[in-house]
Amino acid sequence: MADARITLHPDFRRGVVDRRLFGSFVEHLGRAVYTGIFEPDHPAADEHGFRRDVADLTHELGVSMVRYPGGNFVSNYVWEDAVGPVAERKPFLDLAWRTVEPNLVGTDEFLQWAEREGIEPMMAVNLGTRGVAAAAALVEYCNGEAGTRWADLRIANGRTEPYGVTLWCLGNEMDGPWQIGHKDAHEYGKLAAEAGKAMKLVDPSISLVVCGSSSMQMPTFGEWERTVLSYTYDLVDHISMHAYYEEHDGDRASFLASGTAMDRFIDRVVASADAVGAERRSDKKITISFDEWNVWYLETRFPGEANLPIQRDAPRIIEDVYSALDAVVVGDLLVTLLNHADRVPVAALAQLVNVIAPIMTEPGGEAWRQPTFYPFATTARLARGTALDVRVDAPSLRTERHGEAPVVTAAATVDDDGSLGLFLTNRSDQVVEVDLAHVGATLSLTEGHQMLADHETAVHGPEHAAKVAEASWSAVDVAGALVGSADGTTTVRLAPESWTAFAGTFARA
Ligand code: AHR
Repeated sequence: MADARITLHPDFRRGVVDRRLFGSFVEHLGRAVYTGIFEPDHPAADEHGFRRDVADLTHELGVSMVRYPGGNFVSNYVWEDAVGPVAERKPFLDLAWRTVEPNLVGTDEFLQWAEREGIEPMMAVNLGTRGVAAAAALVEYCNGEAGTRWADLRIANGRTEPYGVTLWCLGNEMDGPWQIGHKDAHEYGKLAAEAGKAMKLVDPSISLVVCGSSSMQMPTFGEWERTVLSYTYDLVDHISMHAYYEEHDGDRASFLASGTAMDRFIDRVVASADAVGAERRSDKKITISFDEWNVWYLETRFPGEANLPIQRDAPRIIEDVYSALDAVVVGDLLVTLLNHADRVPVAALAQLVNVIAPIMTEPGGEAWRQPTFYPFATTARLARGTALDVRVDAPSLRTERHGEAPVVTAAATVDDDGSLGLFLTNRSDQVVEVDLAHVGATLSLTEGHQMLADHETAVHGPEHAAKVAEASWSAVDVAGALVGSADGTTTVRLAPESWTAFAGTFARA
């Protein structure tokens, strides 16, 4: 008798996996931009000053979309100061991260980098210190045809073709008291509605993301979503969610069950949005842009924005170093996102490089993968087509922070050609055997990869990251992992505290 049973049926489908689910985030924060994606003096810099090694790792990571320019940064950003001749741009003091921003990279440099790399940009407008006019002007600058003020400025700055940016965030975390220009839900809802209206009048083809809560722990959570959507429901396409997870006081079990917290958070935001829709008797469904998610030792390692000294020259801020345990949690969070593919079409791993990131660099030196790189890259590669509505029957464990949480989680995707991606987490400290019941279909597993959680203290640097990968990230011997296969059931063995991805085929019987 196996410890858990997972039922896969070709007709039980959750939703199409939108490629934008594998987005990431580059903010003007610490070394995300300068000495992250951009470092003109680096030996690997291209003719535009962007690091080729970082771009190559971004492709290997499978990132489809990048959110820019913030984050908290956007709430005091004057985008006009960072366009036009670089020599004429003036540095400004970014109050969000108390850092002098040199404005060497601005809208054009970022959008052209994204375009060259084939990555979809997701832009955010400043609704903290600015408002309707600056937001509409930025849409016109990016997407307008020749013959109007801001589009002509773009052309004068050397870019004739509109960029055609589709996805726009109406500010960032406006519910957070730390946000520059923080607002209450009514103030923000009204401003977002007016800014969004103007932005859509400039370009009706754009999609808008209204700010949801900065986390489920915010005191205004729920009420914030309801109020903000009451102003913007008919205008916006998505509501944002942000969530960061970390291990508190050695409570490993709760940390490993972070996916359960994310799962409940999504369900609650969906319920809040649907309640507003129901009251309005609307057939429209607001979907979720989970545009900041990751492991971040926010409470245990970060002193807080206001305690940062004023710094310049790309300071090292929130450069969390990750362990294999963190990587197992990241893999499990991806399982949760896939299982909500019907309501979460957009997501961004925050962030891409150096700042709580899967990619790290040294100025003038190497770029390397953190352990969290591997589950993300593998999921982005193997999760294709449609997410199945996977039924998991597994024992649960009691956790301090999240109550009952299943020991095993699973997500599966099937592409039109029958290729299967199967993603499994074993959150317990025991080996678990899992029956995969493939009802109405044959299943074969051909390739597997696993991340085993560690007990090591993470140490900065490429050598340490390589050692962690060598010890924790490996190809699965598929034959060895198979315990048996009979009567439409395949049984696999999962190592303790592990995240596993299998590729294979799933064809109708
Ligand atoms: O990703 C780091 C910061 O986390 C972002 O700037 C902000 O939106 C969130 O609080």
